[in-house]
Amino acid sequence: MEYKTIEDADLAYFKTFLFENNIVTEASLKAPYGKDHTEDFFFEPTLVLIPQTTEEISKIMAYCHEHHIPVVPRGAGTGLSGGCLPIKKGIVLSLEKFNKILNIDTVNFQAIVEPGVINEHFQNEVQLSNLFYPPDPASKGSCTLGGNVAHSSGGPRCVKYGTTRDYVLNLEVVLPTGEIIQTGANVLKNSTGYNLTQLMVGSEGTLGIITKITLKLLPFPPYNTLLLAAFDSALDACQCVPAILNAGIIPSALEFMDKRGVELSINAHQISFDSNQGNAYLLIEVDAFSDDQLMPQCEKIYEVLENHRVKNILLAEDAATKEKFWKIRRSIGEVVKKLSTYKEEDTVVTRGNLPQLYDYISYLSKTYGFDCICYGHAGDGNLHVNILKLNMTEEQWEIELPKAIRLLFEKCKELGGTISGEHGIGMVQKPFLDVVFQPIQFELMRGIKRTFDPHYILNPDKIFNA
Ligand code: LAC
Ligand code: ZN
Repeated sequence: MEYKTIEDADLAYFKTFLFENNIVTEASLKAPYGKDHTEDFFFEPTLVLIPQTTEEISKIMAYCHEHHIPVVPRGAGTGLSGGCLPIKKGIVLSLEKFNKILNIDTVNFQAIVEPGVINEHFQNEVQLSNLFYPPDPASKGSCTLGGNVAHSSGGPRCVKYGTTRDYVLNLEVVLPTGEIIQTGANVLKNSTGYNLTQLMVGSEGTLGIITKITLKLLPFPPYNTLLLAAFDSALDACQCVPAILNAGIIPSALEFMDKRGVELSINAHQISFDSNQGNAYLLIEVDAFSDDQLMPQCEKIYEVLENHRVKNILLAEDAATKEKFWKIRRSIGEVVKKLSTYKEEDTVVTRGNLPQLYDYISYLSKTYGFDCICYGHAGDGNLHVNILKLNMTEEQWEIELPKAIRLLFEKCKELGGTISGEHGIGMVQKPFLDVVFQPIQFELMRGIKRTFDPHYILNPDKIFNA
């Protein structure tokens, strides 16, 4: 695909309707928009635009459509698949000034937000009205709701509450051609034609630019209990996961951490915790609307844990301990980054197949000689596998490792899963998408892309190539 290079005449056009400080051309100011949280990639955009209204975005898109200029929408840049990187140069369109919560509707349990609102800020605001927005990615303190919608982001609470997808009722979207549409309606059920809302969710900024989001809310459950269970073996921990749900409990979090991940996290943050209690851990939370609903659930969980060779169970007795346990879990991703160059795989299988997945990862790491840290959302069968470069040679890293990753993904497919549970395909998982999609699926997706974006300008070459 040939694209037009941005020239002075293009800049002059953008200056006719954008404020000067919303047009970024200086290299040092553009640089942060060329990175995200994926490994250490950097692609410098030619231009960064920071629109403030939907109409401005519409004008930008109509112009770029006409002139064949690539545009990459961007939230907070916390993604882990390189989804917002301008790999074809062109414009990075930042939604950072779309940061308002427009309405919290306490009668109908829904809210309308702009895409640049920070996830945690939104959770806190709705909680003031005793309402609950469950999706809570590890980066909730900095990631935006627009980015969450673009990837259908998850987080620990998905095991009980589902991912971002399950909360999106309707979207306002600027199409690559500049037209502005509503994808659905602000209602809880909608059986009206193709579901364009859900097509946009998880489309990683390749089909349109989200400018308003209507989100479903729930009543806030004010009580919770948190347990940290230590096991001798990761297999015992993994086998325990389906057993907890089979005992009739749906935990509000059911997270796995290997010993190495725990150690890295406690060392990095000087957290006092004895990591020799086990080689693998499950962090288990249950929530409820009254205190007396918690204890019966905990008792059942204790029983299941004890039947699965648990070594030690720590009950977080107070808010500070809960925070400590969550900090250990939530920091792993960010701490691994500091340890070594790494690749992050976001494997997902049916949760009953977690032990087989874990076993296979151990086999691959021995066979291909890599070190990895595994943690993640065991209740969803979603295991993050962080493969560390450490002392591997360039050849092992660039040539041999991709073979191991392909085998890992083939195993995921065999175990009823797929290659990404919540981080998306973006740029880094694109070479592996054929593991789970046949040519006909690529053809269908390319047809959809062409219909929305005939000149292929919006976030080009993400998920799949033209
Ligand atoms: C987590 C991110 C990496 O679960 O998805 O910590
Ligand atoms: Zn995760």
